[in-house]
Order: sequence, then C-alpha cells, then structure tokens
Amino acid sequence: MRVHVLTLFPEMIENALNTSITGRAIEKGLLEIDAINIRDYSHDKHFKVDDYTYGGGAGLLMKAEPVCEAYDALTEKLGKKPRVVFMTPVGETFSQKKAEELAKEEDLTILCGHYEGIDERALDEIVTDRISIGDYVLTGGELASLVVIDAVSRLVPGVLHNDISADTESFNNGLLEYPQFTRPESFRGRKVPEVLLSGDHKKVDDWRFQQSLIRTARFRPDLYIKFSDDNEAIKEYYNKHKELEEEISRILKSEV
Ligand code: ADE
Repeated sequence: MRVHVLTLFPEMIENALNTSITGRAIEKGLLEIDAINIRDYSHDKHFKVDDYTYGGGAGLLMKAEPVCEAYDALTEKLGKKPRVVFMTPVGETFSQKKAEELAKEEDLTILCGHYEGIDERALDEIVTDRISIGDYVLTGGELASLVVIDAVSRLVPGVLHNDISADTESFNNGLLEYPQFTRPESFRGRKVPEVLLSGDHKKVDDWRFQQSLIRTARFRPDLYIKFSDDNEAIKEYYNKHKELEEEISRILKSEV
C-alpha cells in the first residue's frame, strides 16, 4: 500500500512511521510512505503557503494553489487520482470500519492542514473523505493522519506478525478485547486467572468471551447495547449463564 501525505511537516510523518511495526512494514516493502511537502509548491519567493482569511478572523489559512498543485503533481506521477482523505475535526469520526475500508486502497492520499485550516475551494477540488479522530482540536492534521495510517497499515496483509490478531481483537465483533497476561504467573500478589493455565481451550474461549462482554458493558455501554440489541445468540447464551446476565445488568445499572 502506498500512502501519500500532503503536509507542511513531512519529517513529522516520516520520523513517526519509520519506527516499530510500520517501520518494519516499510523496510519489507509492504508499506510505502510518500510525504510530500506542500511548501515545495508555493508560488511565493519566500515559500509562503498561508494568507489572511477573507471576512476577517484570527489566524492564517493555507492557500488553495500549493495544495492543489501538490496533488496535481502526484496524480500526474501516478497516472490516476487516488482517494484523498482530509484530516479535520469537521469530518466523520474515524473507526475500525473506516480503517478496513481504507486498507483496501492501493494508493491513498492524506491531506493535513495547519494554522486555521485550508481554503475551502482546495478541499472542494480534491477531497473525497473528511475524517476526524475525535471531538477535540489539534494544532494540525499530522498527528491525526498518523493515527489513521497506523490503524490502516496494520490491516495490510503481512504487516502484523500474526494476521489473525487483527481480527480477534477489540471491535472485530463489536466487543472490546478480553484481558491478557504473560509470565510470571504471580506478579505483586496478583495471579493469572486459573482458567488460562488449564490448557482447556474451550473453557479459555468461553472465559474470554465473558470477559469481553463484561468489559464492554463497563467501559463502553453504548457498544454493548449495540451488540446485544436484537441478538438472539446472546439471549440464548444468557439463558445458560444467568449469573453472567445478572452481573452485566448490574454493571449497566452502575451498581458495581
Ligand atoms: N485536525 C485538527 N484536529 C483534528 C481532529 N480532531 N481530527 C482530525 N484532524 C484534526
């Protein structure tokens, strides 16, 4: 997968992604990060890329020409027009589902704004998706783009050591992930749950599923309700596990 990032701070993108799992994916040729400096497309002799806002208001806005010309040069080089994601708090909230959708692209462009944002005409011209990583305002789109690139690239086949772990974890079935433990068996008096040492895979799977239900109800009741609503299988499961059902309703009523 090739990710083309249009930014005023290419080193921020490169430095962050050249480490750890994404760094290894780049070395293996599974992921290519092409950080493009929008400033290289400035028409100004001082390489200025921003200007005051029409209508007044504090701060400077990124100009349309360098942004669009950086994109034009990219499309010309690629011979196609890849999807362009603009990182902005004025966008749809990023999710695992969106990450899965973007991971299918062979080429993906991410546009990062800085200062007060980007002239809307540039966005109208090139942007296909507007993504927010949450309801807060960052100083620029770069950190947000790194979140998106990280979540997308780990879904690219071969990037994770064990690709299965991408679909047994939080959100794969609408529930949060169960707790996990490694050696030693006892740490500061806290023991690893007995069932995980039993070697009984069926019991382990069942314990994990129950822990996922409990954690989702506790930390993300909204997700739990979405998961359990109209879910015949879970109703049937609770018929056989009355205590668990009671525990979960206590959690949902915040009695624990
Ligand atoms: N740029 C500034 N704030 C942002 C946010 N919350 N999400 C995505 N891009 C942003």
